[in-house]
Amino acid sequence: MRVGYSIFILFVFLSLLGISDVSNANRLSHANSLRYDYYKETCPQLNKIVKDFITDINRINPALGAQLIRLQFHDCFVRGCDGSVLLDTVNNGSKAEKEAGPNRSLRGFEVIDDIKGVVERVCPNVVSCADILALAARDAVSVPFRRPLWNVALGRRDGVISLANETNGNIPGPFSNFTTLLQLFNSKGLDVYDLVVLSGAHSIGVAHCGGVSRRLYNFTGKGDADPSLDPEYAGILREKCPNPANPNTTVEMDPASSLRFDKHYYDILRQNKGLFVSDAALLTDRESESIVVQLQRSTTLFLHAFSRSMRKMTAIDVLTRDDGQIRQNCRLINP
Ligand code: HEM
Ligand SMILES: *[C@@H]1O[C@H](CO)[C@@H](O)[C@H](O)[C@H]1NC(C)=O
Ligand SMILES: *[C@@H]1O[C@H](CO)[C@@H](O)[C@H](O)[C@H]1NC(C)=O
Ligand SMILES: *[C@@H]1O[C@H](CO)[C@@H](O)[C@H](O)[C@H]1NC(C)=O
Ligand SMILES: *[C@@H]1O[C@H](CO)[C@@H](O)[C@H](O)[C@H]1NC(C)=O
Ligand SMILES: *[C@@H]1O[C@H](CO)[C@@H](O)[C@H](O)[C@H]1NC(C)=O
Ligand SMILES: *[C@@H]1O[C@H](CO)[C@@H](O)[C@H](O)[C@H]1NC(C)=O
Repeated sequence: MRVGYSIFILFVFLSLLGISDVSNANRLSHANSLRYDYYKETCPQLNKIVKDFITDINRINPALGAQLIRLQFHDCFVRGCDGSVLLDTVNNGSKAEKEAGPNRSLRGFEVIDDIKGVVERVCPNVVSCADILALAARDAVSVPFRRPLWNVALGRRDGVISLANETNGNIPGPFSNFTTLLQLFNSKGLDVYDLVVLSGAHSIGVAHCGGVSRRLYNFTGKGDADPSLDPEYAGILREKCPNPANPNTTVEMDPASSLRFDKHYYDILRQNKGLFVSDAALLTDRESESIVVQLQRSTTLFLHAFSRSMRKMTAIDVLTRDDGQIRQNCRLINP
């Protein structure tokens, strides 16, 4: 009975997504050039190399899924999914994307370097860093499920430009309101469903106190807390995040379940325990709130929806065919 109901809701939900896809067709048109079997001839071992590597590292670092999926989100939202977030600053006067403010906790760069190293030995000069990141993020989030949670189409090429100042206006901040979030997602060809569904990635991982302390101590500048945050939960957060914030202290975004990728994020949202203003903002719009309510019904439904939105996100402005390059080192453009 419950299963039948969930499947029905899923069906309705996916149909709605289907309709909204049409308006985004242009933005994501390059996505048509991505293929699941892109490396079938040139690097048939790729998927296995990435999966085995990630499975090993994940035993040592179970937080890897959170780190890599956030890295991919930041990659895709600045200049498309072109591996630009992986580039280091070169000595030419402008800082790279990863040096920008929102980078504070971006991690996982070494893992991508290591996988790239193995891949280059097996099939040199054919696999892009952008594709390695897409596979690695998928596999790291999927480890506990023992099956890939979404399909990754391949054939992205690597960009050659990475500018710190381009994170402004492309990467949303923790204090963003609903209007700002939706505008930003729309500008990437993503809709309100994608916004709510992809925000569900905050089901895993941690955040630095700096992103939340204003909500706890000085929301309107009068020494007050954000009234939209559950007061008891605000108290717990104040214990974990004393004022002023220690820049190194982190809190789980979905406490008690921060390594479990599930629909629990939507449960806490509806209890007014979403960590950021940008999380709570998903309840401030009627349509968005109704999507939160739908997704809260079942993890199966959430995972299906997430898979679909990830395929859209990982196709944003991809470089294909003769565009870009296949970097030899993910941190540097080719000489
Ligand atoms: C909707 C707008 C979003 C905003 C405003 C936002 C903001 C943030 C912020 C401020 C942090 C904490 C960074 C820190 O202090 O260390 C964070 C962490 C995280 N975000 Fe988001 N995010 C958004 C969407 C997304 C999306 C679309 C994904 C992936 C699909 C994602 C995945 C994550 C993950 C997994 C973490 C935890 C990282 C870790 O544990 O290392 N976020 N986000
Ligand atoms: C970003 O910085 C680069 C180089 O420093 C500059 O050419 C560009 O105009 C800047 N872009 C924006 C949006 O500020
Ligand atoms: C993040 O950006 C800051 C400057 O805002 C920089 O000092 C720091 O090195 C950067 N972190 C990484 C990992 O690049
Ligand atoms: C070096 O700086 C220029 C702008 O001054 C920028 O266009 C170029 O992409 C930068 N190089 C890299 C590798 O980002
Ligand atoms: C949302 O935030 C933007 C940018 O800070 C601001 O200009 C706008 O007025 C805000 N919208 C609402 C409805 O609060
Ligand atoms: C609270 O915010 C106001 C206005 O931004 C500021 O003047 C004041 O110093 C802040 N108080 C604390 C305790 O941080
Ligand atoms: C934060 O961590 C860095 C590096 O580990 C350390 O040097 C610094 O003292 C720490 N800051 C605080 C306030 O604990």
